[in-house]
Amino acid sequence: MGVIISTVNMKGGVGKTTLTVNLATVLAKYHNKRVLVLDLDSQISATLSLVSPHDFAKFRKKRRTLSYLLDHAITPNPWKKLEIQDLICPCVCNVDGLELLPGDIELYDEYLVSEMLHKKAVEETGKEFEKVWDNFERILIKNIIQPIVNDYDFIIMDCAPGYNLLTRSGIAASNYYLLPARPEPLSLVGIQLLERRIANLKEHHQDTEPLNINLLGIGFILSAGGLMGRYYKQVMKRIRDDFYPEQLFNQSIPMDVNVAKAVDLFTPVVLAMPNSSGSKAFVKLTEEFLTKIAVNKEQLVSAH
Ligand SMILES: Nc1ncnc2c1ncn2[C@@H]1O[C@H](COP(=O)(O)OP(=O)(O)OP(=O)(O)O)[C@@H](O)[C@H]1O
Ligand SMILES: [Mg+2]
Repeated sequence: MGVIISTVNMKGGVGKTTLTVNLATVLAKYHNKRVLVLDLDSQISATLSLVSPHDFAKFRKKRRTLSYLLDHAITPNPWKKLEIQDLICPCVCNVDGLELLPGDIELYDEYLVSEMLHKKAVEETGKEFEKVWDNFERILIKNIIQPIVNDYDFIIMDCAPGYNLLTRSGIAASNYYLLPARPEPLSLVGIQLLERRIANLKEHHQDTEPLNINLLGIGFILSAGGLMGRYYKQVMKRIRDDFYPEQLFNQSIPMDVNVAKAVDLFTPVVLAMPNSSGSKAFVKLTEEFLTKIAVNKEQLVSAH
């Protein structure tokens, strides 16, 4: 069964998308894994990190994006022609095993979702709106990926900043979450807030179907040198005191202009500039990722 992972941080611009696409690429290219990237963010950064805007426009014109599946989940109709398998782009960036379910600039209409759930709550007498909403949130992404979960080793979901419906639904469907962050005091507050929200989400669903999500690790993007670099090192020291070692990735990602430039080529840096420092760090971080997954699996087995 595929391992489902969401890359989350309520804070914007901390490297969620960059981590998602580079990790997915290294897993497919160097570890022979079959990996699906799911773009849950209407900024479509993950999509445009892997395919050109021209290709994206073609998918969108044919309605071959995540938005098609969301529309059918919100207002099911019998004329549904496409299944998730039809929307997935195989062999992305010419890497065997690297696949993408493109996101969309319009993913769902909040008003339509609320209206549909409200109608459901009225029809299903005795059910509170909140319960109907919680149930929808729990199964939305889970049901969308259900037909293909076993086709992949990893499904990695790139979440939007904030904590919207799709992020919560993605988290609810995941086995693990990855948390990229910058070593800054406010970033640490953000991590703790997110952890609290995920704990609340788990508690909320405890009575229906307990969520099986755990933190896989916090990965830091570091400034290479100068005053900023020195400051980040100081904060990292505090972080090591505040978190358990297993909550952190040892390998950090350096600030590297090649990582930013690669976005212009619609190709992750690990393919575009494999010898860059950013690239090498992503390769090492992926090894640590695989070790963490293996350790977690072992713990699960021994717990049973
Ligand atoms: N290691 C790095 N070195 C240099 N630039 C980087 C690095 N990691 C990310 N960036 C750049 O920083 C910007 C933000 O990164 P990214 O889009 O991955 O963050 P995000 O958390 O996904 O943002 P959002 O919250 O908007 O989705 C991008 O322009 C990206 O190219
Ligand atoms: Mg992003």
